[in-house]
Amino acid sequence: MKIGIFGGGQLGRMMALAGYPFNLRFSFYESAENCPSAPLGEVISDKVLGANSLEAFLASADVFTYEFENIPALLVEYIAQHKPVYPSVKSLAVSQNRLNEKQLFAKLGIPAAAYHQVHSQADLQQAVDTLGLPLVVKTTMGGYDGKGQFVIRQTEQVAQAWAELQQGLPLIAEAFIDFERELSMIAVRGQDGDTRCYPLAWNVHHQGILSHSVVPAPDVDAATQAQAEQYITSILHELNHVGVLTLEMFQTPDGLFANETAPRVHNSGHWSIEGAICSQFENHMRAVAGLPLGSTQELRPSAMINIIGQHPKTADILAIPEAHLHLYGKAERVGRKLGHITVTANDSNTLQVRMAQIAKCLPNQMAL
Ligand SMILES: Nc1ncnc2c1ncn2[C@@H]1O[C@H](COP(=O)(O)OP(=O)(O)OP(=O)(O)O)[C@@H](O)[C@H]1O
Ligand SMILES: [Mg+2]
Repeated sequence: MKIGIFGGGQLGRMMALAGYPFNLRFSFYESAENCPSAPLGEVISDKVLGANSLEAFLASADVFTYEFENIPALLVEYIAQHKPVYPSVKSLAVSQNRLNEKQLFAKLGIPAAAYHQVHSQADLQQAVDTLGLPLVVKTTMGGYDGKGQFVIRQTEQVAQAWAELQQGLPLIAEAFIDFERELSMIAVRGQDGDTRCYPLAWNVHHQGILSHSVVPAPDVDAATQAQAEQYITSILHELNHVGVLTLEMFQTPDGLFANETAPRVHNSGHWSIEGAICSQFENHMRAVAGLPLGSTQELRPSAMINIIGQHPKTADILAIPEAHLHLYGKAERVGRKLGHITVTANDSNTLQVRMAQIAKCLPNQMAL
């Protein structure tokens, strides 16, 4: 079976690496030359093939999926008219639009930040007046790694926020959630409706980009894990979702608040390649190919640390016990995700020691 993937970045690459052992083969719809997925299949580029590229992509595979949600839904709809696409266009349309996400959370009774739709500077002022400060203003579509956002802390900043974000209308203004920490849950749903949830990950961001994730998130009680599972399972079934879905959440003294969803494998799930019985990538491939899902059970405490901007010395990382290096074949650039390291240990103290060792080898990592 051949899988066509919209996007040829590191997520596509890791999907392909997971699918090869059971003889899945791949094509990628991607315009960037030398993309991370290029060594693993045919790359179909609209820059090279122009108007014929979508037809060529459609002809290149049996089943389709995507590795990021910021793609025009029209492209995916076109493919879906002819061949199966998982997750469906519905899942994509919800996850790529923050307003749709918020409406879904409300429909399913999942707590989330109070919000206002913003179409004008007057709307933004009104959001400040009703939701209070700080206020998190976001573009409804297209944001990632904290891009397309402005946190208004003083009322004088309304004009500045408006000036910076008005290109990305409509906007959404969210009440600021004073969270204790950020957690995410990754789950997968098969074509037969079977669902499996991974343990909650604790995610730490630095300068708007995910720095590292620890799994299972320390000090999570069974009720919190169960609550998150109930939230994500209700989303999976509501959307009739097939494949992996991620739910980012804020943990607060009043419980979990949903932040956003991603209809795909996620950076906070990379630990699962070595840390779980069946990784998020393999489970996504199984779901897309209509195969039985694998166990999402964690094997032992794990951490995933992103490599941002500059590469570490390979030998330094591999000298650390139970550290696994994943490089994406990208050139160095400020703020760019170049790879990640997963480290595991028998106990969380040893894990912490190893994480600190890894951080020292990474030029742009904060001390861990
Ligand atoms: N309502 C909020 N209250 C407090 N902090 C927030 C709120 N919304 C977002 N943030 C902070 O900003 C970060 C980025 O926001 P969000 O996840 O919505 O955007 P994103 O650009 O899609 O990010 P990513 O690509 O990293 O998932 C969050 O991880 C959180 O730290
Ligand atoms: Mg996010």
